Amino acid sequence: MCGIVGYIGKSKASPILIKGLSKLEYRGYDSAGIATIEDDKICHIKNKGRVKELENSNKLENLKGTIGIAHTRWATHGKPSSINAHPHLDSHENFAVVHNGIIENYRELREFLINAGYTFNSETDSEIIPNLIDYYYSKETSNDKFLNAVHNAEKDLKGSYALAILSKFDPNKIIVIKKDSPLVIGTKDNEKYIASDINAILEYTNDIFILKDGDLAYISENKIDFYNNNLNLVNRTPEKITWDAKASDKGDFEDFMLKEIYEQPVSIRETIGTRIVPNKPCDFSDINITKKYLSDISRIYIIACGTAMHAGISVKPIFERLTNIPVEVDIASEFRYRDPLIDEHTLIICISQSGETADTIAALKNAKTCGSKTIAISNVIGSSITREADFTLYTHAGPEIAVASTKAYTAQITLLVLLAIHFAEVLELPKNEIINNLKEELLEIPSKISIILENTDIIKKFAKKIHKETDIFFVGRGIDYATAMESSLKLKEISYIHSDSYQSGELKHGPIALIEDDVTVIGIITDRRLIDKSISNLQEVISRGAKTLIVTNQEIDTKLFPNVFSIPKVHPLISPLVSIVPLQLLSYYVAKEKNLDVDKPRNLAKSVTVE
Ligand code: G6P
Repeated sequence: MCGIVGYIGKSKASPILIKGLSKLEYRGYDSAGIATIEDDKICHIKNKGRVKELENSNKLENLKGTIGIAHTRWATHGKPSSINAHPHLDSHENFAVVHNGIIENYRELREFLINAGYTFNSETDSEIIPNLIDYYYSKETSNDKFLNAVHNAEKDLKGSYALAILSKFDPNKIIVIKKDSPLVIGTKDNEKYIASDINAILEYTNDIFILKDGDLAYISENKIDFYNNNLNLVNRTPEKITWDAKASDKGDFEDFMLKEIYEQPVSIRETIGTRIVPNKPCDFSDINITKKYLSDISRIYIIACGTAMHAGISVKPIFERLTNIPVEVDIASEFRYRDPLIDEHTLIICISQSGETADTIAALKNAKTCGSKTIAISNVIGSSITREADFTLYTHAGPEIAVASTKAYTAQITLLVLLAIHFAEVLELPKNEIINNLKEELLEIPSKISIILENTDIIKKFAKKIHKETDIFFVGRGIDYATAMESSLKLKEISYIHSDSYQSGELKHGPIALIEDDVTVIGIITDRRLIDKSISNLQEVISRGAKTLIVTNQEIDTKLFPNVFSIPKVHPLISPLVSIVPLQLLSYYVAKEKNLDVDKPRNLAKSVTVE
């Protein structure tokens, strides 16, 4: 939810920290702050608003230290304000802390600290942390007072946290801790970089330690000591990250979202990678799912939140068709609390772009305790969910920065389609014809998407026409309903226009009461078998005054429907990979018409690490 950066080395810390924060703004952007140490004193600046405002602050020039921590916030406790912004300092200004996560028992700790003479300025849960460290520091008699004080304070914390901590008593050290919120450390010669995610520091180094839950790292410019929960030294080795640092720059695009929409041909190709092998079964040697196991399971659950959940809905038909195993798709926040009927005969597939979504991780953990096997689908190497699951499969969409997910969505569908094919091949079901056909079609998807991306005028014009509207409806039947849901979510997220999605056949059971003159209804039609039915549903709304946009790869009478966006023909079971693209663009252009910040929509964060 929040973004953390830290630096220790020979260079001035503040420019590096600000740059890192701007790469993490997708994690939260209601306030930001920075702290460095100079002359054995902690200096800090905090601002309400975006990182840009912090960067433009005339006080920033005064921060000259070569060690520092910084934070961009997405409010959970206390409104966005400079007082609630991080870093938080203790009452004596001895320690500064940036925190991502939630301290669940902060009220009782605050009470305890108030009784011990500490005062509080903010409404946040995080402010108790530096005070608690100061409290233990004052009681510490060992030589390693900073390390022990942090360790003792951590023992009192309940909840989730990634923390970076400065101490004025140890002006050449940063301590970081991780539990249930992500944190990485980059190392290069005599410089160390800390961040919530790899992208923020990738331009400095590819050697990255991905911290595990319970890790505490004691960092100086030329050394990192890792400790476990019992404060025993442990060995950690850095991973070589091969992502290109430029992948997290906007390049020539105006916004990350547009760049990411245009990256889809490449991200789908990368996700297919070498899994499709000519004349052989798909290569899934990275997981071990046997014929016996698949024959014994009674159900597959696909669990996720938001866009990732829509990817699950898009692939339910292909899994059922190819494997004959019933599939249920569930929202993680519901699944975890509804005592689902799962056991060792249930396979759980959890999808999470970030791999950090709290509800999805909790759902996966619950499923494991019931004996189910779990597969995580994630876009982020080493993310929390990948450490919990029995098996992990990575999408290769590259870093997705815009809050509204686009290329990760199509990469998730691609990988899940391949997984469904793999299951059918493992089961040795007599489905060779459809499987070969799907493999061929999948390989053609990138070039079909490129065709759409080269012809966007109709979409831009339609966006101009509808950008002032207050309600928009998306309808589709069968697999097209998944695209309707995802399109509606995209539009809401970034244009703030209320929109809803319905199965076309359901319109007459209620929603049609909302249709009146000039209301916009967007229909998606990609399944030949359902074309007549879908058309009559759309005629029903037209005769009540609606205007329509049809996204289709079927022959449609343009006399009936003046706005048709044609997309290339594709196998109906994988059509969501193509039909979503013009509708991602539609949301984008509507938001641009409204002059909104497309990449950072209000109230949203990309990585939702709290419930
Ligand atoms: C947030 C984002 C959505 C995203 C969802 C799931 O709500 O705003 O765009 O789809 O989280 O994220 P995940 O990282 O688990 O795929």
